[in-house]
Amino acid sequence: MQMRRLLIAGNWKMNGLSQEGKTLVEEISSFLKTTTNPDFDMLVCPPFTLIGQTCALAKDSSLSVGGQDCSFYDKGAHTGEVSAAMLKDIGCSYVIVGHSERRANHGETNEIVALKAQKALEEGLKVIICVGETEQERVSGKMLKVIETQVRDSLPLNATSENTVIAYEPIWAIGTGKTATPEDVAEVHKFIRSQIESLKGKDVADKMRLLYGGSVKPNNAKELLSLEDVDGALVGGASLKSKDFCAIATRQND
Ligand code: PGA
Repeated sequence: MQMRRLLIAGNWKMNGLSQEGKTLVEEISSFLKTTTNPDFDMLVCPPFTLIGQTCALAKDSSLSVGGQDCSFYDKGAHTGEVSAAMLKDIGCSYVIVGHSERRANHGETNEIVALKAQKALEEGLKVIICVGETEQERVSGKMLKVIETQVRDSLPLNATSENTVIAYEPIWAIGTGKTATPEDVAEVHKFIRSQIESLKGKDVADKMRLLYGGSVKPNNAKELLSLEDVDGALVGGASLKSKDFCAIATRQND
């Protein structure tokens, strides 16, 4: 069996002013410094305004920093956009693309997500590409078809197992406290891995990390992260509390 190192990624979304962000990063960094031989990597994706400060605070720890989105343009007259090169320049190593909130609220199609991912990879960032079905798609039996299309059309040609992570986030489980059952998660992750195999070959499929996201908390992390094809978590709400975020990483619930 392929051993893939866990990635515990925090998506802060539009949360955090300077002081809260500072405290959170200091606490996570000090947790990492005092954890011997962790079997996981940790990543935080703060809002754009806090990325600079977060990179500076995290620089002596193993904590990675990422953006929550990037533009598919290089630069120029794109008011409000942030480029992949800018994220890289300020110290990010990752960027999330295609989060369901961006797909739903900002009209991001699979094609746009693929362009963003391609640009980020060209700039030397790693990408976390998000996919996931709505509740309606799940109950109407379209779940796997939707995910198949999202994975196929959102994955850029330059994606490899080293530079790309896929996050499966059922939309109905995000921020709702509802988590997919371990059986559901196992089924979808296995499906995604088999699809990566047909798109990119067995070696890439064996090595690519697949994260689960959607109401991951300390009390369900152990079970979810022990599933064979789950190689980490993309955590929203619980990543805003260092205690919970670190408990997810260690799979301890006390
Ligand atoms: P949640 O968010 O953990 O608050 O459900 C997950 C996400 O949107 O990435």
